[in-house]
Amino acid sequence: MKNFDYHQPTEIRFGRGRVNEVGETVARFGKRCLLVTVTSFPEIEPTYEKVKDSLRAAGVEVAHFDKVLPNPTTDIVTQGTEMAKEHNADVVLGVGGGSSMDTAKAIAVEATHEGTAWDYLFFRDTQPSEKTLPIIEVTTTSGTGSNVTQVAVITNPAEKYKSAIYNSIIYPDVSIVDPELMLTVPEHITASTGFDVFAHAFESYIHPNGSPYTDLMATESIHLVAKYLTVAVKDGSNLEARTWMAWADTLAGLCIANAGVTLPHGIGMAMSGIYPHVMHGEALAVVYPAIMRYRYRSDVKIFAELGRIFNSDLVRESNEVAAEKSCEAIDDFVKDIGMWIRLENLKIPEDELKALAEASLVLPDYKNHPRVASLEDVYELLKKSHKS
Ligand SMILES: [Fe+2]
Repeated sequence: MKNFDYHQPTEIRFGRGRVNEVGETVARFGKRCLLVTVTSFPEIEPTYEKVKDSLRAAGVEVAHFDKVLPNPTTDIVTQGTEMAKEHNADVVLGVGGGSSMDTAKAIAVEATHEGTAWDYLFFRDTQPSEKTLPIIEVTTTSGTGSNVTQVAVITNPAEKYKSAIYNSIIYPDVSIVDPELMLTVPEHITASTGFDVFAHAFESYIHPNGSPYTDLMATESIHLVAKYLTVAVKDGSNLEARTWMAWADTLAGLCIANAGVTLPHGIGMAMSGIYPHVMHGEALAVVYPAIMRYRYRSDVKIFAELGRIFNSDLVRESNEVAAEKSCEAIDDFVKDIGMWIRLENLKIPEDELKALAEASLVLPDYKNHPRVASLEDVYELLKKSHKS
């Protein structure tokens, strides 16, 4: 067995009804809380009220920053930081999907450091310090894994570039995962975020930094996604499916915190950076079919295993056949959850694919792949993903 490290400092509180513990949880870290969310809408309003009631009952004074947008920008982070400073916040609470949770992390950095969060990206010499405010996250989707990772993804519109703070200091102190909060998540967001769970688990499974520990969690997560995501998409009120998807998301988040993501996320991050209207899960689902075909030969055993998880008939086939047919199995999975999309459907012009390919190789994710793609390879993959 290879040597490996595993680190996970986030306290996880998982289960139905656990959101009611948010007040006492936050109160352990501070008394003046900045709550970070998207603007209220009818389905989420009861969650916000529940959270605020719990905070008040615990004696926590709350200011609510509710201006988070999908693919949060540096401007949004700065607006939230101003509110945190005005409120003299000593703890930040993100409630929502990846955008809200990542914004909360970035505010916790920007409110306590010189400059802006953008000055603390993973490749900079300056990194966030112990001054970073305590971070509590309540996830309302399954998910992005952000509630258990050291990553905050932000977009700089001026640079048309999406990047990340990546530092152990922004691991949430506590992550509350309450599947009951996910019962009202709309179908398309369930599918899109659920596909992200699959991508986190699978990319961690093939990642060179993977370990027996993350492999265990990744394979369990993929099994759960294969079994429950379609159910959750078709019947959002199915609490059992929501619960298992919340667990799959948590497992996949723990995986990416210790292994990481590969080429699909490299392309996906670039895509949402240039085209902010593209949801993260859409950016992944659109390129997965072509990437599966590009790489399944690079590790026949793993791709055969993947194929068999999604299509049990492949148990009878050889590894070579099962690996090849894993491509169709993933096609069917993507179609079943209503995520079969082409780049032209996402309004990404064909003549901009070269620039997108170049941007896809800026982050190092693409190197963590059994078959390392060249610029020309990525361009070809994008062309294959453009039209039906
Ligand atoms: Fe992701």
